[in-house]
Amino acid sequence: MEVVIVAGPDQAGELVGGAVAALVSTKPDAVLGLATGSTPLAVYRDLARRHGAGELSLARARAFLLDEYVGLPTGHPQSYRSFIAHELEAHVDFASAAVQGPDVHADDLLAACDAYEAAIRAAGGVDLQLLGIGTDGHIGFNEPGSSLASRTRIKTLTDQTRRDNARFFATLDEVPRHVVTQGVGTILEARHLVLLASGAAKAGAVAAAVEGPVTAMVPGSALQLHPHATVVVDEPAASRLRLAGYYRETWSHKPPWQGL
Ligand code: GLP
Repeated sequence: MEVVIVAGPDQAGELVGGAVAALVSTKPDAVLGLATGSTPLAVYRDLARRHGAGELSLARARAFLLDEYVGLPTGHPQSYRSFIAHELEAHVDFASAAVQGPDVHADDLLAACDAYEAAIRAAGGVDLQLLGIGTDGHIGFNEPGSSLASRTRIKTLTDQTRRDNARFFATLDEVPRHVVTQGVGTILEARHLVLLASGAAKAGAVAAAVEGPVTAMVPGSALQLHPHATVVVDEPAASRLRLAGYYRETWSHKPPWQGL
């Protein structure tokens, strides 16, 4: 695992946006894994800027969302499908239907979860998966206790996650209790995992995920099992990492050709 400590969101966005641009330049039909939440916004802004500057085209790329709320009407502004449409798709040139999320409106949700797994497989798997992390260590919506082998399925949110996400809704009661999320096992099949975190509220989750034991109680710790995982954190989010000095030294001496 590579840990990169950056000054702030703009640096994180530029670094990770650069990794996406490098991938798409060698593989124009790359498959991206998209995360929601506030943290990846810096990356989406960077991709929009690159596209606006004529440096990046996602016209042949495809993308899969990590997760989605169950119970919000289609087009609800806080649905993750709407979030990605507004924050990313509106500013780049994905082809229509190139971005998919799990069908949370299906009568048979279990079949829809299986169909989502099949769609990811049929696309050739995810090349680069963006991830945030919850204050309780969740990735996607895989809450503590999620099997490290889990697949796309329905989950119930913890109170902590509902409270964390209540800032996007008028009241806590409006935050859905149920979600569909790619499983930890699904996420681990992506070829490159890039987890972003910022702010002191994430310091405990980042330290547990990066330097703690691999455990279902901290789903983010599953990144330790992946052969190509990158963790990009700002100083406050890195503040509880024991090896922060080593990560800084490693990064400052990294050969520029190597990329993320
Ligand atoms: C939600 C999403 C996660 C995201 C997390 C953190 O729970 N399902 O994918 O990582 O929020 O969000 P933020 O980046 O806003 O802190």
